[in-house]
Formats: sequence, structure tokens, C-alpha cells
Amino acid sequence: MSTFPEGFLWGGATAANQCEGGYDADGKGLGVPDIMTGGTVSEPRHVTDGVKPGVHYPSHEAVDMYTHYLEDIALFGEMGFKCYRMSINWSRVFPKGDEEKPNQAGIEFYRRVFEKCRECGIEPMVTLSHYELPYHLAKEYGGWANPKLIDFYLNYARTAMTEYKGLVKYWLTFNEINCLLMGGFGNIMGAGILPPGDDVAMTFGDTPWDVPQKRYQALHYQFLASAKCVVMAHEIDPENKVGCMIAGNVTYPHTCNPDDVILAQRKQREQNFYCGDVQVRGAYPAWAPAVWKREGVSIEVSDEDAATLAAGTVDFYSFSYYMSSTASADPKLIEGGNIFGGAGNEYLKKSDWGWAIDPKGLKYYLEEVYDRYQVPLMIVENGLGAVDVREEDGSVHDSYRVDYLREHIEQMGEAIADGVDLMGYTMWGCIDLVSASTGEMKKRYGFIYVDKDNDGAGTLARSKKDSFYWYKKVIATNGEDLS
Ligand code: BG6
Repeated sequence: MSTFPEGFLWGGATAANQCEGGYDADGKGLGVPDIMTGGTVSEPRHVTDGVKPGVHYPSHEAVDMYTHYLEDIALFGEMGFKCYRMSINWSRVFPKGDEEKPNQAGIEFYRRVFEKCRECGIEPMVTLSHYELPYHLAKEYGGWANPKLIDFYLNYARTAMTEYKGLVKYWLTFNEINCLLMGGFGNIMGAGILPPGDDVAMTFGDTPWDVPQKRYQALHYQFLASAKCVVMAHEIDPENKVGCMIAGNVTYPHTCNPDDVILAQRKQREQNFYCGDVQVRGAYPAWAPAVWKREGVSIEVSDEDAATLAAGTVDFYSFSYYMSSTASADPKLIEGGNIFGGAGNEYLKKSDWGWAIDPKGLKYYLEEVYDRYQVPLMIVENGLGAVDVREEDGSVHDSYRVDYLREHIEQMGEAIADGVDLMGYTMWGCIDLVSASTGEMKKRYGFIYVDKDNDGAGTLARSKKDSFYWYKKVIATNGEDLS
């Protein structure tokens, strides 16, 4: 008997801006990712002031799922996916973001996508905002630092939920909402708060132009938008289930020095539970005002806001999980190469992009979160970004990816055996796509290889990696056969 419950949502995940391409097709407007250049593990992506001639923007074509979607979803179906987590590209349905009426061509595109999923027996799970704010809302309104975005978002969400009633029942309000707690990346990708000037590097650590007040305020507005969206989703269709989506962060103390332990506790709380408490419990944690004080920000939570947050708690907690890090009170030990920052961990190996591989951290995280919230959990991103070699016959021997996934799935099984209510698992980047942090194609996650390189060259042909066949077997046996 499998440890995994019947009906477990096995599948894969993508985001529109990283796979669709068609950045200006059929009335689509520009999104924030469309003004971001490519980078590498050592060269940051840049944000330009609009689209510049002669510059390569990886999202513009990406892996052209906009025209390959039937083929791609059929391949997901062939693997036996029960669930496909994807996003609607906001600017495909509301090109500028502040219109009242949507772009009908965009609406019909996603309808065809969802119908194809249903035809293949796949349940779609839709992220409404996955780092893809319409550029106009960023440029003209200042992104989520402006409360007007709440109504624009709700108009978009209402349109999507009404149009796709009966086709989609799982929704995520904001991807990795806690990334707004980070400077550069959080401002740009999370909140659509653009850097001043042109051609500015996207940072993960120190961000010279960062104004924490704006980020924390933007996050508050996203919380309100998310809570209102949950209530609306249940009104539109009582079958709808809405989740939060948090970038799962595991921080161990670097040593048993109490200073390290306290710092690790602070990181765990702030990076996971600041957002989790608001979205699952419906209120800021007791220590939030202390965080605001330390960050020099002031957030006013009116009685009306408090009531909104309390009314709009999510049905499930979803998260991404890639790595763990350690906290050290010794600044000399802090190293880069990890989006959460922190000190190293001598017990763990790292990916080629410096992300510490820690399957047991996934079990630890599942149990920590379940202990705190007791709502169903869903892993909506996990996977290995690696350099793949495509053989002449199209095959890719990615045993390293199979090993990574097997070890993480084993730990999921352990957590379920410990009583965690886990709904499903959608592996990140089930088809190769553009990396969010570096803009590369070279950092591949997929079961399906796409012939395209960092410079944009390639035939876009799809081929199945060894992991494709492995995952098919995992799903067919409901996680029992991981060999
Ligand atoms: C998450 C994002 O941060 O991690 C995805 O939700 C992203 O959009 C994924 O692609 C993996 O990160 P990267 O930088 O390797 O693409």
C-alpha cells in the first residue's frame, strides 16, 4: 500500500512568463518580466526602462508554449499528471491592468489550455500572480506600493474565476508572497516596484535603491487583495479552493551557539510565518510590530483591514522548496549563491547554482508548518536546476534529477507517515523554461527538454528525458515505486 493518499495531486508546475513567450501576441500587454534581460549564475539580470531594441529578453519567446501548449499538455498527460500548476499571465487578459474589460483573445487562450488539461485528465491549479504584473501598473502606478492595485487585481481575479468556473477550482493568489521581504528581487518581481533609471541590476542581497517601507506596505496590500480574493472565490463557486504560496525557507542554526539558534528562529519565523500567519490564521503574528520597528517601517492595520484579513483565510498552504540554509551570528560566515542568504552547511551538497540540496529539510519544513497551521499542505515547486546534455537521438540521461526528486519524495512519504496532510506535489519546471532568478535556459528543471539556449537559439523541439519515464512510473504507482 502506498503511503500517499488516494487522489494525491502528482504533477508539474510552470509560470506563464517563463514558458509561454508570445509576449505581444493577440493583444497581450507588456509584463514586468518582459523588460528583464538574461543573466547567468554570476551576472545578474537587468531591468530596462521599457523594451530596448537589440536587447535579448528571455520571456519574449521563452519556450513558446503559447503555440506548443497542446503538444506540451499532451506530454504532461502521457506522464499521468493529475495536476498542472500554471499561471495566467495577467497582461495577456488585461494588457495594461487597469482596464474594466478583458482582452477576449487572452481569455480564450486560457480556456483552450484548461480544456486541454481536462481532456488529459489533469486538474489545473492556477496562480493569479506569478511575478508577472502588467508593466503599465508598475510604471504608472508604482506597483503594489499603490493601494489602487487591490481593485485592479480583484477585477482580474473575478474575471478569471467567472470565465473558468467549472474548469478551474484550485487557485493560488500570489506566488512566493514572502519574497517581498527581500530587497531587489522582492521589489521588482514580487511588487512591481521598479528601480530608478535604466539598465539596473536585479540584486538578492543589498539593494541600494530599496525603500523597505514601500515593500512592507505593498505586502500589506497584497494580503488584503488575497483575503478579498478568497472570499470572492468562494462566492463565485463554493467548489473553489484557494491557497497561499510561500517560498519555503528552512534555516538551521549554524552551530549550537544560542546566538545562532535565536537568529535561525528569527529567520524561520519571519520568512515563513509572517505571511503564513496572515494568510492562514487571518492576523499578523504578535511579533510583527517588532519587525516593523527593526526595519524602520510603519504599517497601519485599520479595524477594517483586520476584519478583511480575518475573513479571507486560505483553504490550504502551498509552498516552494528548493534548499535550506544556516544562520550564523558571525557575519564572516555569510555566503552568497542562495536566495535566502545565510552561512553554508558542510553536511549538504550544492547544485551548480549554489543551492544546498536538503531532502530532509523538506520533511522538517512540512512538519513545522503542519504543526503550526493544521491545514492541508501542497508542495507546488521543487526540483533541480541543472545543466543537461542532449544526445544526438534526443535522449537526456538525467539520473542526477531522478536522484534529487526520489530523495525529496521519500521525505514527503515520511512526513505523511507522521500525520501531515499533504495534498499533492507539482515538480517545478516540468518542461524546461526560463529561470526566474538568472533568466537562463541553461538552468534546466524539466522532464521534457526544449532545444533552446541562453542566447535564444534553438529549434524549440521537445524531447523526453530519462526522468520523464521515471516520473510516469512514480505517478502510476502513486509514489510506491521510486526505483
Ligand atoms: C521560485 C519561483 O522562486 O523558484 C519560480 O516561483 C522559479 O518562478 C523557481 O523559476 C526556480 O528558480 P530559478 O531561479 O531557478 O528559476
